[in-house]
Amino acid sequence: MSMSDSQSHLDIRAALKQGISQLREAHVSSFTLAAELLLLHVLGRDRTWIYSHPEEKISPAEAARYFALLARRAAGEPTQHLTGKQEFWGLEFEVTPDVLIPRPETEHLIEVALDRLAVREIRAGRKQTLTGEGLQIADIGTGSGCIAIALAKELPAATIHATDISSAALTIAQRNATRHAVADRIQFIESNFLEKVSPVGARYIVPLQSQGANSEIHESPVTSHQSPFFDLIVSNPPYVGRREKETLDREVRDHEPELALYGGEEGYEFYAELIAQSAARLKPGGLLVLELGHNSLPAVQPLLDATTWTNVGVTNDLAGIPRVIAAERL
Ligand SMILES: C[S@@+](CC[C@H](N)C(=O)[O-])C[C@H]1O[C@@H](n2cnc3c(N)ncnc32)[C@H](O)[C@@H]1O
Repeated sequence: MSMSDSQSHLDIRAALKQGISQLREAHVSSFTLAAELLLLHVLGRDRTWIYSHPEEKISPAEAARYFALLARRAAGEPTQHLTGKQEFWGLEFEVTPDVLIPRPETEHLIEVALDRLAVREIRAGRKQTLTGEGLQIADIGTGSGCIAIALAKELPAATIHATDISSAALTIAQRNATRHAVADRIQFIESNFLEKVSPVGARYIVPLQSQGANSEIHESPVTSHQSPFFDLIVSNPPYVGRREKETLDREVRDHEPELALYGGEEGYEFYAELIAQSAARLKPGGLLVLELGHNSLPAVQPLLDATTWTNVGVTNDLAGIPRVIAAERL
C-alpha cells in the first residue's frame, strides 16, 4: 500500500483516527483497541504516553509500518500475531501462529486450581502461605505455556511438567518460561497427553523379579512410567467442534493452530482420554482442573464418576458459561 502525503506527516491523534476508521470499515471487532495496540506497538510507547502526546508527529517510517499492520489486521490477522504478544494473568506472553492466543477465560482455571490447592492445605492443617512446596503439577497441552507459567509464578516451590504434541508450540512455551524466569522449574515435554511424562528426581521402589529379594530403589522412570505421581493436573484442551468450524471468527479459524482448536467433530472428544490418563497419574487426593468448551459440560461431567472422583465442582465464566470443571481423585 503506498502512503499518501497526509499519512507521512501524521500526528498521533490523526493516525489513531484513521486506523480506527479503517478497521471499523473492515468490520474488525474491538476496532478502537486494535488500532491503539498496533500504534503502541509501532511507536514502542504505552497508552498513557500516546494519549498525553496527541500532537506528536510520527515518522514516515512509523506511519508506513502502522498502515501495513492495519491492512493485515483488516484482512483478518489477529492483533496478537501482529504485535507478537498477549497478556495473561498479568504477564506478557510471546505468541505466534504456532500457539493458541491465551484467552481471559482461562484465568478462571488458574483461580480454581489455586483455590482448590489452598483448601487442600487447610484440610491438611497447613495454613501457611501456599508456595507449592513438594507439589508435582502437570499442564497438558501447554501451548504458549501460559497456564504452566502462571502457576509457576504463583507457586514458587512447585515442580511443573508441561506437555504438548506440537514441538513448535513447546519452543514458544520454553521462551516464555525463560522470559518469566521460571524455566528451571518447568519441564517441557513433547508428548501425547501425559504419555511421555516421567517423574524427575523422584525415587521409586521397584520390586525385583526374583522371589524374596530386596527391593531396589531406582532413579529411572522407566518402570514407574504410569505411577500415580501428580498432586495437580490442569488442562485447557482443544475443545471446538469441527462441525462449528464455519461459525468461528476468521481470526480464529484461519490463523490459530488447528491442533489447538479442534477436539473432534463435536469438540468434547478429548476429555475421555484426558480424564482416564489423569485418573491413572494423580495421587489419591490429587486435583484435576479442566477448562470446558461452551457445550462440553454434559459430555464431561459423567466421565468424572463417583468410583474414582469426588468433590466435582463447576465454575461459570463471566458470561455465565460453565467454563471450568474440577475434581479430586479418590
Ligand atoms: C486449547 S490449546 C491450549 C493452550 C494453552 N494451554 C492455553 O490455555 O492457552 C490446546 C493445546 O493442546 C495441544 N494438544 C493437542 N493435542 C494434544 C495431545 N494429544 N497431547 C498433548 N497436547 C495436545 C495443542 O497443540 C495446543 O497447544
